[in-house]
Amino acid sequence: MHVLVTGGAGYIGSHTVLQLIAAGHDVTIADDFSNAKPTVLPRLEELAGQPIKLHRIDLTDQTATDALFAAEDFDAVIHFAGFKAVGESVAKPLDYYQNNLDTTFSVLRAMDAHGVRRFVFSSSATVYGENPVLERTEDMPTSATNPYGWTKVMVEQVLRDLAVADDSWRIALLRYFNPVGAHASGRIGEDPSGLPNNLMPFVSQVAVGRREKLAVFGDDYDTVDGTGVRDYIHVEDLATGHVAALEKIAAADEALSVWNLGSGDPVSVLQVVQAFARASGREIPYEVVPRRAGDLAAYWADPSKANRELGWKTTRDIDDMCVDTWRWQSQNPNGYPEA
Ligand code: WQD
Repeated sequence: MHVLVTGGAGYIGSHTVLQLIAAGHDVTIADDFSNAKPTVLPRLEELAGQPIKLHRIDLTDQTATDALFAAEDFDAVIHFAGFKAVGESVAKPLDYYQNNLDTTFSVLRAMDAHGVRRFVFSSSATVYGENPVLERTEDMPTSATNPYGWTKVMVEQVLRDLAVADDSWRIALLRYFNPVGAHASGRIGEDPSGLPNNLMPFVSQVAVGRREKLAVFGDDYDTVDGTGVRDYIHVEDLATGHVAALEKIAAADEALSVWNLGSGDPVSVLQVVQAFARASGREIPYEVVPRRAGDLAAYWADPSKANRELGWKTTRDIDDMCVDTWRWQSQNPNGYPEA
């Protein structure tokens, strides 16, 4: 299939692009580079062993998006494009609602107009909000505790209503847990701009000497060692999950499906720190500080629905995730070159 990957120059998008090509699909990337550097593209082409079509585009612009669909003949869309920083979304709610909803509406409108019906949406475990059942299953109610999370809940609702209105759509909602890690080559990886919001890139930058120490947000949770527990999933396993979901909906009869993409293995902050120290051979200095507002103590995936229906499961553990992250970080201490 010819697949449009929106946000394909980003962290998860770039890894998914490589796996789509390896699976025999044609790929076109659409990205505005608001959260990615153009220098990722030559590395992707080097790893793919072929040129990769790229359109630098503002997907909130319906005219430009329609023109893209008129110029190319897509069979499917994987939609990663969107702002994703929880804290930033609290500070800039209008930016987050407008960008994350408008990009999605613009792409869906263009798909509808051009008869493209296969749509894989980059959702997030954040849509589970607070729930006393820590192992999340796809039938749980959705809610959010921040504007970023609400944009995911809202887009999921739009897609459910679209699937009811027109069952010719083939839609997959993929709920990621905590994506970490990097391509085994060390040539592509996670390259957050500014101070990393997320744990793994922060630990990695401490190990490589870019940051002095890690702040551990609370060690008084009711967990194995008092620190926050999450379900970390290697970005390569996540990418494989996208290829499996796309091929599943292309052959299935359901108008909309929902799958958790997670390992099902709960891991604490301190366990990540210890695994990273093993992987890098570096000390990871840290200081325990008060809890971060909005953080939940613990949650992880029940991935059995995806295991069963997609024939997919994670293959890499937290040590693999740290080894691959460290290879990327140590080979690229400052991330991708600017230009
Ligand atoms: C993980 C654990 C922190 C940083 C968020 C979004 C989610 C998805 C992934 C986009 C928690 C602790 C973290 C630090 C720390 N993003 N931590 N010190 O919050 O589980 O999920 O990112 O799709 O939607 O909600 O990820 O990596 O920020 O935190 O102690 O400097 O690490 O308290 O327990 P989170 P995270």
